[in-house]
Amino acid sequence: MHKPIFALNRDSITGGVYQSTRHDSGHKHVAGEAFYIDDMPEPAGLLHAALGLSHCAHGLITGMDLSAVTTSPGVEAVLTVDDIPGVNDVSPSNHHDDPIFPEKRVMFYGQPLFAVIARTRNEARLAAAKAKITYQQEPPVLTIAEARKAGMDYVAEPMSLNRGDVETAMAASPHRIKRSMNLGGQEHFYLESHIALAIPGEDGDITLYSSTQHPSEIQHSVAHVLGVPSNAVTVEIRRMGGAFGGKETQGNIFAAIAALGARKTGQAVKLRPDRDDDMVATGKRHDFVIDYEVGFDDEGHILAVDIVFAARCGFSADLSGPVTDRALFHADNAYFYPHVRLNAQPWRTHTVSNTAFRGFGGPQGVIGAERMIEEIAYALGKDPLEIRKLNFYGEKGNLTPYHQTVESDLSAEIIAKLEASCDYQARRAAIREENARENAKGGLFRRGIALTPVKFGISFTNSWQNQAGALVNVYADGSVSVNHGGTEMGQGLYIKVAQVVAQAFQIDLDMVKITPTTTAKIPNTSPTAASSGTDLNGMAALNACNNIKERLVAFACDKFQVPEDQIEFLPGRVRVGNREIEWPDFVKEAYSNRIHLSSSGFYRTPDIHWDRKAGRGRAFYYYSYGAAASEVTVDTLTGEYRVERVDILHDVGASLNPAIDIGQIEGGFVQGMGWLTTEELWWDAKGRLRTHAPSTYKIPVASDRPRIFNIELLNKPNHMPSIHRSKAVGEPPLVLPISVLHALSDAVASVADYKIFPNLDAPATPERVLFAIEALRAKAQDQEGHGHG
Ligand code: MTE
Ligand code: MOS
Repeated sequence: MHKPIFALNRDSITGGVYQSTRHDSGHKHVAGEAFYIDDMPEPAGLLHAALGLSHCAHGLITGMDLSAVTTSPGVEAVLTVDDIPGVNDVSPSNHHDDPIFPEKRVMFYGQPLFAVIARTRNEARLAAAKAKITYQQEPPVLTIAEARKAGMDYVAEPMSLNRGDVETAMAASPHRIKRSMNLGGQEHFYLESHIALAIPGEDGDITLYSSTQHPSEIQHSVAHVLGVPSNAVTVEIRRMGGAFGGKETQGNIFAAIAALGARKTGQAVKLRPDRDDDMVATGKRHDFVIDYEVGFDDEGHILAVDIVFAARCGFSADLSGPVTDRALFHADNAYFYPHVRLNAQPWRTHTVSNTAFRGFGGPQGVIGAERMIEEIAYALGKDPLEIRKLNFYGEKGNLTPYHQTVESDLSAEIIAKLEASCDYQARRAAIREENARENAKGGLFRRGIALTPVKFGISFTNSWQNQAGALVNVYADGSVSVNHGGTEMGQGLYIKVAQVVAQAFQIDLDMVKITPTTTAKIPNTSPTAASSGTDLNGMAALNACNNIKERLVAFACDKFQVPEDQIEFLPGRVRVGNREIEWPDFVKEAYSNRIHLSSSGFYRTPDIHWDRKAGRGRAFYYYSYGAAASEVTVDTLTGEYRVERVDILHDVGASLNPAIDIGQIEGGFVQGMGWLTTEELWWDAKGRLRTHAPSTYKIPVASDRPRIFNIELLNKPNHMPSIHRSKAVGEPPLVLPISVLHALSDAVASVADYKIFPNLDAPATPERVLFAIEALRAKAQDQEGHGHG
């Protein structure tokens, strides 16, 4: 007998579900051994592409002189709109409004107008800068306010959700507040920028390595652009260096240009924009103006809600339809609204086309809900937490604004547990006392605290997207490989699905090979998005495993003449009647008996349906829940602040991998904190993005991590039969740092004894915090009627 390759555990397998297994590439990430596309060995004769970007936000191209570009050293080809054999569109929607290069009309500052293909990347970039382009400038419409004033159109059909009689209930409410809030966008700042490598094959085929969350869409859009069928284009991606929604659709144009370059030159072409170009030319999180009116009673019960969510969508539809839909889907957060009207306004502007970003409009919706809670609390002089608890789904009602019944609501349980475990009440009282002392003696620092919940619907709201495929191969030596349509962007999808496969066959995780995602293996996939990667692909992989196991069981029944219930998959072995056969031996026996050891798998989420026109349905398979309590210190002289302590209790069902899930919660929290505090996108009057690099755009750094950061999992199995009763985790934690925004607001409010609503917009940069403090102090003095100073 030769030495076994795998040392098999017999008590329990290593790396099955519910185990805190490390990320499969964690050690490779830190050692620099993980291959990203730019790390792959380069094909001989590889050429490099660079983009020529517009220097005009809106207008007509009157002249495009590319002669100096063409003759620049190293240049092999220049690509313009005339080089597109198929359609000049990479739109993910049926609006067909995302040209690769515009034919005439420029729609934003930084829009790609042409591309250069050169021998080196530097030569391509230098050449691109030599273009002479003239425009007939037209005034750009840049903001939501300007779009409203100019009467711009919507980029997509806006959604509306209605339940009850808002007019009557609002009019009858003892209290009413009507105000609006500005909420900024966010740059994804994935560490790996967009990149595509196109390799031409025979018969006009193209193989693309693309940093994308959506290989099937890259495949389809490149096929359309080249005018070839989908089967001529293969897209592969092993991993992305972060994506966060920014690579759901935004990779299309880079892939298309690389493919066009490969088609034109017959050589492999790589396109990797530098950070500035990536930031200028790709879409971001939508910024919003939220106009809300809320009616409530003396205790703080919400009676009626009327909100308009206006979003800056940029020049094209992209995903703005579904993103603004989701803002409405989350505008209840965890609260029951007896009468409600929610409307979306997806405004077209002459800016880059905004896109998916972790939460997909949901966080903006939740902000609306939490903002109203805060308003009510200030109006009644109560703790916002008390108002939150009053308005949870429950006895008063369980129907969402989209007419789905909330089942197994965990909001009250999570809030109660977190409130106790983080000692919220005592800390809040102490903070208020201390702030009062600081007010009295004119001290500089004020502290604030807030506890906010999240309830996050899980499913694509385009119901048809809730499907996935997988392919599992068992090799004759007992080793296994798994492939599925999901992509890895650091979130741990690959390891979770591998754990599911290891569990299914009862073999150690190191016997399961994780393989790159490719359209050649799994066709017609959905994007890895909506946090549903594990739910969908885990189930598809399990389906494939079960198919193979069924064949193995049938084989063993027949071969060893035992009934089916006498066959059991034990750790590292299979029990067949009275005997136990080692897994590799069992597989080998099956192979020798010509058993098919490979299977595809498929899954589609059951029990969901959605009628968008009617605004009714069971849009979500289930909800994920969580809550965070955040404490901040604010310097009232400068507006600077520090997040001192954060406590999180989060629901991931029965966690498939607690280490990965806690990582997602921590990362999601810090990313959301950046969005609501320091990350500010700023375009000048010409429509130029001036915050286009880390020098001017401030993402959180290691030192911004809360000083004390306690994260706990609720660990309660999903009431719905999801994969091993786990729940999605990717996006919901991004909503938790709304507690930071509200803690800042709490600290600001202390300077006027909590009597005036701070009306703090987001991002709450130090400047905004400082302005809010000064505005409150001025107002407080006015109200006291002795306005000295
Ligand atoms: N985590 C890391 N490390 N990197 C990412 O790019 N993207 C987020 C989230 N967590 C992201 C991440 C987004 S936007 C989504 S929708 C989910 O991961 C997608 O993966 P999942 O469906 O497997 O959770
Ligand atoms: Mo995530 S925004 O759904 O890619």
